Amino acid sequence: MLDRERDRKMKKIFDTHAHYDDSAFEDDRKKLIAGLLEHGIGYVVNVGASIFSSKQTLELVKEYPFFYGAVGVHPSEVGELTEEGIAFLRKAALKERVVAIGEIGLDYYWDKSEREVQKKWFVRQLELAREVELPVIIHSRDAAQDTMDILKEQKAEEIGGVIHCFSYSVEVAKECLNMGFYLGIGGVVTFPNAKKLQEVVEMAPLERIVLETDCPYLAPVPNRGKRNNSIYLSYVAEAIAQIKQVTYEDVVDITFCNAKKLYRLEKKDTKNRS
Ligand code: NI
Repeated sequence: MLDRERDRKMKKIFDTHAHYDDSAFEDDRKKLIAGLLEHGIGYVVNVGASIFSSKQTLELVKEYPFFYGAVGVHPSEVGELTEEGIAFLRKAALKERVVAIGEIGLDYYWDKSEREVQKKWFVRQLELAREVELPVIIHSRDAAQDTMDILKEQKAEEIGGVIHCFSYSVEVAKECLNMGFYLGIGGVVTFPNAKKLQEVVEMAPLERIVLETDCPYLAPVPNRGKRNNSIYLSYVAEAIAQIKQVTYEDVVDITFCNAKKLYRLEKKDTKNRS
């Protein structure tokens, strides 16, 4: 038992989607991030959701060698986006250890920006990802049809990426997998009422699943409702292991490799970037 516990701590977890720039971490950010490595976290991708948080992401990446960054503007924030903003993102995308454009997409649940405006900037940021040759992190909520239509129109299978916090049906999941996308799975999979997502996890090959917190949001059971952080991903890995009838260690190892492929980290190490 003790050996098993120790082994588990040695396993490195890859958190593919976090927001440590969020004000929820204002009081103890440094201390919390410093503790991640000793709690078995290998890498974290901090994801921008606005121009401001994309800038903060660049700062975090500079400060912490085990952090990577994604830059992009979330559908709820695209009201602020301009071509100047796109020019900033293009420059930011070329910085060292920036590995994706995101999070970008459509959110018809909050509907904070007009749908036509959301679509316009979703397409524009997909074009940017193609141009800078980075994968995308897609945020899509209550907008499955329009998201899939745009991904197909834009030939997103040539861009690649992850559907973060996947929340749609098994059928939509299959379409995303067919396009070569990974599925981002987080705390929701531990919720007893998340039957639909559990079915998706059962269907999807483990080789196409990545772990994500979306912290500070979506903490898994038994910490549901609390502030989330990467350390809680062990509960998510445990839930996936149970659904897929594999070991916890397999889930952690395989999703770690998946994340490196998704964000093309091997290639990146040998690439000369400014
Ligand atoms: Ni997010």
